[in-house]
Amino acid sequence: MKTKGAVLWELGRDWEVVELDLDGPKDGEVLIRYVAAGFCHSDEHLRHGDIVPRFPIVGGHEGAGIIEEVGAGVTKVKPGDHVVCSFIPSCGHCRWCSTGQQNLCDLGATILEGCMPDGSFRFHAEGQDLGAMCMIGTFSQYATISEYSCVKVDDDLPLEKAVLTGCGVPTGWGSAVYAAKVTPGDTVVIFGIGGIGINAVQGAAHAGAANIVAVDPLANKREKAEQFGATHSVASGEEAKTLVGELTRGVGADKAIVTVDIVNEQVVQEAVDAIRKGGRVVITGLADPTKLTVQLSGAMLTLFQKEVIGTLFGNSNPQYDIKKMLDLYRTGHVKLDELVTNTYSLDQVNQGYQDLLDGKNLRGVMLHEH
Ligand SMILES: NC(=O)c1ccc[n+]([C@@H]2O[C@H](COP(=O)([O-])OP(=O)(O)OC[C@H]3O[C@@H](n4cnc5c(N)ncnc54)[C@H](O)[C@@H]3O)[C@@H](O)[C@H]2O)c1
Ligand SMILES: [Zn+2]
Ligand SMILES: [Zn+2]
Repeated sequence: MKTKGAVLWELGRDWEVVELDLDGPKDGEVLIRYVAAGFCHSDEHLRHGDIVPRFPIVGGHEGAGIIEEVGAGVTKVKPGDHVVCSFIPSCGHCRWCSTGQQNLCDLGATILEGCMPDGSFRFHAEGQDLGAMCMIGTFSQYATISEYSCVKVDDDLPLEKAVLTGCGVPTGWGSAVYAAKVTPGDTVVIFGIGGIGINAVQGAAHAGAANIVAVDPLANKREKAEQFGATHSVASGEEAKTLVGELTRGVGADKAIVTVDIVNEQVVQEAVDAIRKGGRVVITGLADPTKLTVQLSGAMLTLFQKEVIGTLFGNSNPQYDIKKMLDLYRTGHVKLDELVTNTYSLDQVNQGYQDLLDGKNLRGVMLHEH
């Protein structure tokens, strides 16, 4: 069939919305009609070249839609089901899936190739095979994806809000609750209040942190952070360190979470400087994988027994945690509606990313027209 999607043809070029040829679902695959897609910074990394995928690639890895057709052997979903896509598939039986670490599923190996688990491609245009970002390519009206990327959700949920549980919400919430293990009474510092950081604020608040210090140079982000549960907000790491000193009688924060758009050695050092003895730094934000963004004194880590860890998908199990986030939305413990700052059509994809880069959005959401 024919569909329309936003494509990156090569490094540094803007998104181009083009007509695509889409193959139907093979064994274990489904055809999905996307209703909404989120503008996460990770797709911008591909455009800008901080992280280089296989080109060409159809963008978008936060997506929600409705199943149109299923291939042979599909048991997880049926036509008409409402689905939030997980940006890492979960096969259910690899070592990681079978030990409660679905975010590390072996099928995640090809998310930047964008091919199906069998190595083949479903999108084609101009005589080329196109990958799909995270094997889902949610900046397309339709896509053929693995059933392993699907999480069935209740029909009555608004997909244009639920879409944010495909990446930003569980990644940020889980960075605080699962990776940092925030506990009641903690002091937590969160560096970078975008779609990920704001959800780390929500997670830390839900976990009972007494002090949540949001750090972002942008005043609008600091204001939003306070609406989502931050008790304090400052513009720089230096201010955070001074404030945390005052809040903790010089002891330091229990946890620091790095959710800035492009991680560098300075922000990692600031996070490490902000925590107490035995405290933990969680790095969720990304950067060019060839850059050494963690440059620390090992002796200082040893002597102060500090921990520095990375987290993918906020250590969440997407099959469980995407639904959990939606349950918490129903009970009012997780805000989704307030996360959506602006909506865009597919044709406005470059505008959506410009607004992200200009710091205007907590999250922008693309609403597909069919
Ligand atoms: N680990 C994962 O599983 C995972 C998942 C999704 C996204 N990410 C990554 O998380 C990062 C954040 O994504 P996003 O969509 O929230 O980005 P975003 O662009 O929406 O937000 C980033 C924010 O960081 C702020 N910032 C920049 N430098 C800062 C600094 N030195 N101190 C404090 N704040 C600073 C910016 O002003 C902005 O508000 C990206 O690198 C993205 O690729 C990781
Ligand atoms: Zn993302
Ligand atoms: Zn697996």
